[in-house]
Amino acid sequence: MRTLTVLWLHSPDDGEGDLLSVVEHGLSDAFRDFCSEAFNVRMPLEYPPLKLTTVHSPEELPDALFIGGDPSRGMTEGGDDACLFMVDDSFYSGTVRGMPLKDWLKTYIPALPKVAVVYPGRPPIVVPQRRWAKKGIEVLSRPEFYRERIVHLFKAFWLPRFWSAMRQYVQVKAGTNWHTPGHNGGNAFADSPFLRGLYEAFGSMIFRSDLSVSVESLGDLSSPEAQTPLSEAQKMSSEIFGSALSRYVTNGTSTSNKAMLMTLLKPGEVVLVDRNCHKSVHHAIVTSGAVPRYLPSRWNSRLGVWGPVSLHDIERALEPDGSQRPRLLVLTTCTYEGVLYPVWEISRLCERAGVLFYADEAWAGYMAFHPFYTRPDCVAGRAMRYNAVNETSGAHFAVQSTHKTMAAFSQASMIHVSLRFKALLEEDASPQFRWLRRRFALNGHGSFEKFTHDLHEFLRYWHSTSPHYPFLATLDVAGVQMRLEGMKLIDERLKWAADFRARVAAECGLPEGECFAGLEDIAGTGGWASDGFLKDPLKIVLMLRSPEACAAFKKALLKSHIQWEKSTATTILFLVTVGTVEEHFECLFRVCRLNRALIGRPEAGNDDENVSSAVQGDPVVLPRDAALCDGEFVTLEASVGRIASQFLVPYPPGIPVFVPGLRITAPMVELVKGVIASEGVGAVHGLFCRGGHGPYYVEVLNRDEESRLEPLGASR
Ligand SMILES: Cc1ncc(COP(=O)(O)O)c(C=O)c1O
Repeated sequence: MRTLTVLWLHSPDDGEGDLLSVVEHGLSDAFRDFCSEAFNVRMPLEYPPLKLTTVHSPEELPDALFIGGDPSRGMTEGGDDACLFMVDDSFYSGTVRGMPLKDWLKTYIPALPKVAVVYPGRPPIVVPQRRWAKKGIEVLSRPEFYRERIVHLFKAFWLPRFWSAMRQYVQVKAGTNWHTPGHNGGNAFADSPFLRGLYEAFGSMIFRSDLSVSVESLGDLSSPEAQTPLSEAQKMSSEIFGSALSRYVTNGTSTSNKAMLMTLLKPGEVVLVDRNCHKSVHHAIVTSGAVPRYLPSRWNSRLGVWGPVSLHDIERALEPDGSQRPRLLVLTTCTYEGVLYPVWEISRLCERAGVLFYADEAWAGYMAFHPFYTRPDCVAGRAMRYNAVNETSGAHFAVQSTHKTMAAFSQASMIHVSLRFKALLEEDASPQFRWLRRRFALNGHGSFEKFTHDLHEFLRYWHSTSPHYPFLATLDVAGVQMRLEGMKLIDERLKWAADFRARVAAECGLPEGECFAGLEDIAGTGGWASDGFLKDPLKIVLMLRSPEACAAFKKALLKSHIQWEKSTATTILFLVTVGTVEEHFECLFRVCRLNRALIGRPEAGNDDENVSSAVQGDPVVLPRDAALCDGEFVTLEASVGRIASQFLVPYPPGIPVFVPGLRITAPMVELVKGVIASEGVGAVHGLFCRGGHGPYYVEVLNRDEESRLEPLGASR
């Protein structure tokens, strides 16, 4: 059992010991009741689930929470367990290191629920609604009378709305089902003499909770405006992640990207996009009818990984140059290997240029829950956060694969729309965003309601009308878990990862940077760190001396039943998620120790040196037109000079080389042939062949379509 901490910024008073003990016991008892109701867990009476820690002045907060007062060094014991922050009304307008307390809390512990404790006779205070509550001291000091009100408060902060309603429906209300899915609460398996084992292996609840939109009382993704537990859960996730609006999405961030880009872009509009973005972004560009202008991401041939786009290149792409102005910038932050962009700076550049900033955060939805992902004192004395949607600075949109790193079933994804975007749309009057106010206008004014309406419409294009309800429940619960114990979960894993890296390096007799790829190893030399880029330590990129060493290491991993996330010729990526436990590091460490001679910076690059140049180039016709037009198969060799009408995605590295609308070049074809030679034809998605051998065909625009379609250059 874990004891969580309630941190109280509180002025000591006479009879202090008694008060603290009463409040601690009162909160603990209420929390026990709450957990029994919300999570169906019974906590032993002798075990106090909450402990109270007091801090006597705002200035003491950094030291109370962070080791040495520095968030990048990790949390103190007690700080890491914090689940609730209470502040006496007398401190409410205080400052921490020159920063207003409310801003400091928003920056460093944004996701923690906060309670202003008000005392009789003192001037009234107004708390912001989001994540704040106000409670009179008598409620806390007389819990025997007010226990229900404290439980109510806890429910407001942590009750998973959808999961609770679904559990109650399944356990209490459900009777005879005359609706989908066809297994009918699992009967089709349980009653079969052959499939009963499957029923038993999964457990009955997964089948009984696999419901249908016919159960109207729970809600339907297609009607997000209705007052249902499903929409309540999404409202709560929005509060937890600090957005103006959050939406649950089925079929992963792939779907989030499609729905969002169709909402934001109109056919023919320009979108700036990192060339190494996920293929779903390319698909979304096709479906939205937009024109991509690619930003140069760097291919790192030594490690076989993509680096980020530099701030310089982003700034240059945003500058007016006489061509059509872009509407949107899409960046992947963090990258697969964990490179995070300085989102505050990019949003500043974008807003200056009248461009919206869209962050594909598929790999890092957890950043709002730990102060490590903060950049202290970097802009005018203000600290900045790396999670793209936040309340201090940052992007206008973020999409996250909740399932990749947090406790949700596969495919679970969230869209977050920032408060900043809402303000830009409804309150900003700058001329560079006139187009935005027109796009989402209601009665002649920029309207967030209109934007939301449009987003819902495009979500309906892509959502399944039969979502998996247990999957939706995990989206609800994953957010609540992060709010309740996310700080501890992330802190533990940051410490375990740091400890693991240090132990492996010591075992290999090498500096850590010679064993694990850091920011500059991935991005290349340059002022990345001083520009605000950061390497997320929860993406462990182990370097192996050569492709042979890498292959041998992977063999050793398999022998130990260890499955990694992704590998290149000379690196292996281990993903640390909220479900990674300490023993996992121990198992991995044992393999590292036994194979230490294989670990180290690879000496030379691999065969993929041409990737960056091969994939550069802008489309010559609209990707949507090229993808939907009549095409013809030609052999790979004969495709040079033709216009691609389908994607060709070699894996690795998983970045489309042929994109509908691009003119095919000889280096592109060589790149694809290289992948076929080293990884086999199955590694090139989109290639056509019979029986797994050549000739290989690709689809290109046929000559009639090529002459019919307007070249993009003509209209840009
Ligand atoms: C950067 C990025 N965005 C989006 C996606 C798609 O996410 P999902 O698998 O949730 O559809 C991925 C998947 O790997 C990805 O790497």
